[in-house]
Amino acid sequence: MDAAEFRRCGKQLIDFIADYIESLNGNRREAMPRVLPGYLRQRLPLRPPDQPETWERVMSDVEEHILSGTAHWLHPDFNAYFPIGISYASVLGDLLSSSFGVGFTWRSNPALTELERLMLDWLAEMMGMPAHFRNDSGIGGGALQGSASDCVLVSMLAARKEKLTQLIGKDAEPLPVSRLVAYCSQLAHPCVDKAAVICGVRLRRLGYDDENLALRCDLLESAVLEDRQLGLVPFYVCAVLGTTACASCDNLSDVGAVCHREQLWCHVDAAYSGGALVCPEFRPLLQGIELVDSFNFNPSKWLLCTFDASVLWVKSQSKLKDAFVSGPRASIPVDDAPISNPLEQICDLKDWGIPLSRRFRSLKLWFVIRLYGVEGLQRHIRLHCRLAQSFESQLLKDGRFQLAAKTRFSLVCFRFRDSDALSRLLVCRINQSRDLHLMPASVRDRYIIRYAIVRERAVEADVNRAIRVILKHADQLDGKFSNAASIASAIPIATAVATSGNAVNDSEDAEEPVELNSSVPIRKEPSYMSDDLIVGLSEDQLQEKFRQMSREFHRERRSLRRRLDK
Ligand SMILES: Cc1ncc(COP(=O)(O)O)c(C=O)c1O
Repeated sequence: MDAAEFRRCGKQLIDFIADYIESLNGNRREAMPRVLPGYLRQRLPLRPPDQPETWERVMSDVEEHILSGTAHWLHPDFNAYFPIGISYASVLGDLLSSSFGVGFTWRSNPALTELERLMLDWLAEMMGMPAHFRNDSGIGGGALQGSASDCVLVSMLAARKEKLTQLIGKDAEPLPVSRLVAYCSQLAHPCVDKAAVICGVRLRRLGYDDENLALRCDLLESAVLEDRQLGLVPFYVCAVLGTTACASCDNLSDVGAVCHREQLWCHVDAAYSGGALVCPEFRPLLQGIELVDSFNFNPSKWLLCTFDASVLWVKSQSKLKDAFVSGPRASIPVDDAPISNPLEQICDLKDWGIPLSRRFRSLKLWFVIRLYGVEGLQRHIRLHCRLAQSFESQLLKDGRFQLAAKTRFSLVCFRFRDSDALSRLLVCRINQSRDLHLMPASVRDRYIIRYAIVRERAVEADVNRAIRVILKHADQLDGKFSNAASIASAIPIATAVATSGNAVNDSEDAEEPVELNSSVPIRKEPSYMSDDLIVGLSEDQLQEKFRQMSREFHRERRSLRRRLDK
């Protein structure tokens, strides 16, 4: 492709992207594709072409085979997971970055290095972060990583290195890493487990309190004590602001105080919720931030930057670099040129994480922050929060539903009153209908339905439609189960919690056979759960699946009735 061809195709591609995104706004596609696993190999050649093909043929395959298998995150009916940071401004920044090569040392790409460091300082200011997280502090600082999972891993590697270094000299033998223990709440993201596996350390997931769903610091303290008595070495805690399941927040003051007292590295994973901190009203969540060693959040979730862009700030850059520096510590002096800004040390971003080379990711941050301004980003966050509030209040007007957790940020977690089985059936039916796309989760061992505001241009009409869809499917279930939801709603929550999972063999109810000892299988996952819609099921298999789920509901209902009768 030469420059002339690039100009021609590039202009077409920009039009294609705009048409695609606008077609989603116009609701002319379904949010989720109707393809089965392995669909693409049946459609595309299994061997690469020997001869060049035309741009037109490539784009026609994009339209026909790629778009038809793509989940459309910007679709108004896509309400799963968390917000997606796709904005036109960031797509353009990303496009530009792919033409500027990479960087690793300052010398290899001064603009890449310096813009990234400046953007992280801009963000620190926009979010009310303490001065020591800024690059111009010369103490701590920040760098971009690919994902929140990378940030958690990088922080854990730094904490591990720090603890092992502290212990050298105390023991004659080097400490086996397997004696190190990390901690987090049961609601922390599975990326913490992954980081622990990679680091070769143990991870203890601890309980959370019933009211705020925040990590219980009394359990943290006793776990640390217990582990020390066993000869283990506690070293790291991952607190979460905005858990994946329900957006609950750990208390940084409390967690930080334990970490400070016990000399544990305190990391905060705010992958989703961090973006909200551009609005001062969310900053009370930062109480205790001065006790935190590192903090990550994803502008690629809620700050309108396309994936990938995850910020990692550390309180001490030397502790971070200790884990990653190989070879000479600083850049080779740049032709003895004086450093123009004495606060800006020569920085080699290769020392701030695992890869050597990095993309020019900060360009998209720069584009977004400049083209929206801080106030534009604040408006975006507040709009999403307002829409979540509107969804909550409309939904709760229908007495069959209850909140499964307090609505935080732009996520509403709800369920059919005290029925896991019915809630599960509802999600399965809605997702199968493709009227909406929802992703459930589990909190306190209960099944919860998550409704997330995902796309930049979400509007009140999306919320109204979602409510109509949910109520329509709820009515259908209600009809089928003779007002079953209202029977369940008569049961106080505590009773229902106590009974969930206990199957009862009730032979009086001839409607459904009941397997002894079976239970409503709420899996204790710290993150999303499967929506039970196994793609590729035939219509008969699907119907059988719904029948199975109905049986679960009947078991649950019998069990609840029994409790009520007692
Ligand atoms: C709290 C939290 N941490 C970590 C992650 C993982 O994010 P990433 O895909 O950037 O690794 C998620 C994903 O949703 C999350 O919600």
